[in-house]
Amino acid sequence: MSGLNAIAGIGADQRRGGYSRHVFDDAERHLREWFVEQAQNRGLAVETDANTNIWAWWGQPGPGAVVTGSHLDSVPGGGAFDGPLGVVSALEAVELLRERGFQPRTPLAVVVFAEEEGGRFGVPCLGSRLMTGTIHPDHARNLRDPDGGTLAEAMRSFGADPARIGRDETALVRIGTFVELHVEQGKGLIDLDRPVAVADSILGHGRWRFRFSGQGNHAGATLIDDRNDPMLPAAQLVLAARRTAAATPDGRATVGRLVPTPGGTNVIASTVDVHLDARAPSGARSMVDDIAGRAREFAAQEGCQVEVVEESFGDTVHFDPALRDRLRGVLDDVPVLPTGAGHDAGVLAAEKPTAMLFVRNPTGISHAPEEHATAEDCEEGSHALARVLADLAG
Ligand code: GLV
Ligand code: MN
Ligand code: MN
Ligand code: MN
Repeated sequence: MSGLNAIAGIGADQRRGGYSRHVFDDAERHLREWFVEQAQNRGLAVETDANTNIWAWWGQPGPGAVVTGSHLDSVPGGGAFDGPLGVVSALEAVELLRERGFQPRTPLAVVVFAEEEGGRFGVPCLGSRLMTGTIHPDHARNLRDPDGGTLAEAMRSFGADPARIGRDETALVRIGTFVELHVEQGKGLIDLDRPVAVADSILGHGRWRFRFSGQGNHAGATLIDDRNDPMLPAAQLVLAARRTAAATPDGRATVGRLVPTPGGTNVIASTVDVHLDARAPSGARSMVDDIAGRAREFAAQEGCQVEVVEESFGDTVHFDPALRDRLRGVLDDVPVLPTGAGHDAGVLAAEKPTAMLFVRNPTGISHAPEEHATAEDCEEGSHALARVLADLAG
C-alpha cells in the first residue's frame, strides 16, 4: 500500500525490530507532518484539537459527520499495520470517492488519535479518552513516561497547551458516526478464509501496576535467609496471572513489562514494578482482584510490601448492532468477529454509533514485527471502507 510504503522508514527500531513510534517523539512528529501533507494534498482542511488528535475535513466540520481513522503511534517494536493501516486506508477511501465524483451529504473527516497504544504514558487510547472525558485531565497531565517526564511537560515541548486537555464537546458534537479500519490482530479471518470482517465486540481490559518493595542489597554478601527480594513475589505474580487467566473463561493476563530498581545484575532490587495487562469478557477486574490477593501473600512470604494501582480500565464493548448490520449489508455479508485488542473505536462506542472493519493478517501475529497484511487485502479493505463511507455520508 503506497501510504504505508511512504512511512516505512519512519520510526523503524533498529535495536528491537519493527517500529517504535511514541507520542510526541521524533518519529511520531514526522508521521503527523506526513499525515497533514497527505490530507492537504487531497484538499482536506486539517486541524489539531486540544487533546492533540488530528482532524482532516472534507466539507465544513460537523455536526453529525461521518468520521474514520485510527492512530499512528505503535507499541515498542510493533508492526507496520496496527494503526497506520486505518489512517492510510481512510486517505485512500477519500481519494477513491473523490475520483468517483462522490459528494458527501454530511461532512466527512479522517482522524488520527494520539497515544492509542499508551506506549509512552501507559494509558491506552489517551487521545480518545481525553476527548470523551473518560480520563480526568489532572490525572492525565501527571502521567509519567519511562524517563519520569510528565505528559504536561511533553505536551509543552511539543507546542501544545496541557491546560486545554479534557472532554471536548465541540469535537464530540461533530461526530455522527465513527468507523475505524484496523488490521486484524488474531487469526479469525485466516480461519474464515476471508479478507475483511466487521467487528462485533472488544474484550473488557485494563492495566495494573504492582509495585513490590523490599530491601536493596548485595547479591553476594546477603545470605538467602536474610533477603527481602521483591523479585521473588514479582516472579510468582507472573505465574499466578497466567494460572488465573487460564481458569477464567476467555481470560487473558500478560506481564509484558517488569522493571527492577535499580536494575543491576549483582544487586538485590529494592523495588520491582510489574505491569499487568488483563482482559476478559466479564470480570477482568475480579480476575485481577484474585491475582492481587495472591500478590499480597507472595509479598508477605518474602518480607516485602506490595502496592497495586489500576492505571486504566474499559468494560467489554458491543458495537452498535444496527450500524454493524448496515455495514454488512453494504459489504455483502462480510463475517462478524470479536476482538481481544483495544481501540479508540471502543472508547467512542460509549457515546456514538461506532463500527470497525478488520483486514486479514496472514501471520495472525500483532504487536510484533511479524504483523502483516497483503497488498491485495489492504486494497479490499480500503475499497470496503470507501463503500461504507459512501453509504453513511451519501
Ligand atoms: C492495543 O492495541 C491493545 O489492545 O492493547
Ligand atoms: Mn495495538
Ligand atoms: Mn491499533
Ligand atoms: Mn489498540
